[in-house]
Amino acid sequence: MGNLVAVLAVCERGDEVIMGTAGHTFLHEAGGVSALGGVVIHTIPNQEDGSLALENIERAMRDPGDYHEPISRMLIIENTQNACGGKALSADYMHSVGLKAAELGLYFHVDGARIFNAAVALKTPAATLVKSADSVTFCLSKGLCAPIGSVLCGGKQFIERARRIRKLLGGGMRQAGIIAAAGIVALETMVERLEADHVRANRLAEGLSEIAGIQLTKGSPNTNMVFFSLNPNVGLDNGSLIAEMKARGVLINDTSEGEIRLVTHNDIDDLAIEHCLKALREIVS
Ligand SMILES: Cc1ncc(COP(=O)(O)O)c(C=O)c1O
Repeated sequence: MGNLVAVLAVCERGDEVIMGTAGHTFLHEAGGVSALGGVVIHTIPNQEDGSLALENIERAMRDPGDYHEPISRMLIIENTQNACGGKALSADYMHSVGLKAAELGLYFHVDGARIFNAAVALKTPAATLVKSADSVTFCLSKGLCAPIGSVLCGGKQFIERARRIRKLLGGGMRQAGIIAAAGIVALETMVERLEADHVRANRLAEGLSEIAGIQLTKGSPNTNMVFFSLNPNVGLDNGSLIAEMKARGVLINDTSEGEIRLVTHNDIDDLAIEHCLKALREIVS
């Protein structure tokens, strides 16, 4: 809901928001910005490293003087970029996007659901990564381990409008302190720990690359995700693999692109990584 609130706080009906074809708001938010806000999504391709090329952002701009066209209002950059393999986008890149957005008059929102993974991977404070952004969302759950919660950050006026829209969407909460408390623990104790998830994702990828029949589809992990697919000659579909893994105590799932995505987190230790690899070796070899 964080990205949805951000878009509705900024855009009028008929406005356009530019984002990547692999962007979460485009792929996995039920088309909410269009359904609820009448906002048009204008996608441009994500590059292999997860970024959007600055020249493509510029090319996506509508002509503000032409009333046939929607109004380009907003730009969303996802960092890390989940569907591109959990890629972390550098501070230099983020800054250059900020400059480009300002030049084009676009409001710059960062979907930073996993911004702390990017910060840890790049050894750069999250605040530096989002310095040029107008607003940011990040998740307290996922790698930061809180049971629930996302945070939307921005300027005072924006947040005032966002609070109203959150209420309008049915997202207002009472007695939220009890879950906010877990969020504070997440921020204070779980950020540096993410490094261990990244190390384990790399170990997982290394082990997978030694299994004939398995193909890493997004290269070496940048952060906490590993994507792979089965070679057709293995003679096993994803559904059967998922069932076989479940029988061995490992829950995995596939993506809409037909890949398997493995994500490391606080409850996955070194033994769990070896257990997962052993199960895959048994099934696939
Ligand atoms: C990249 C990305 N953005 C946004 C979200 C959604 O965050 P929330 O619904 O908690 O605001 C997710 C969570 O699945 C995500 O992976």
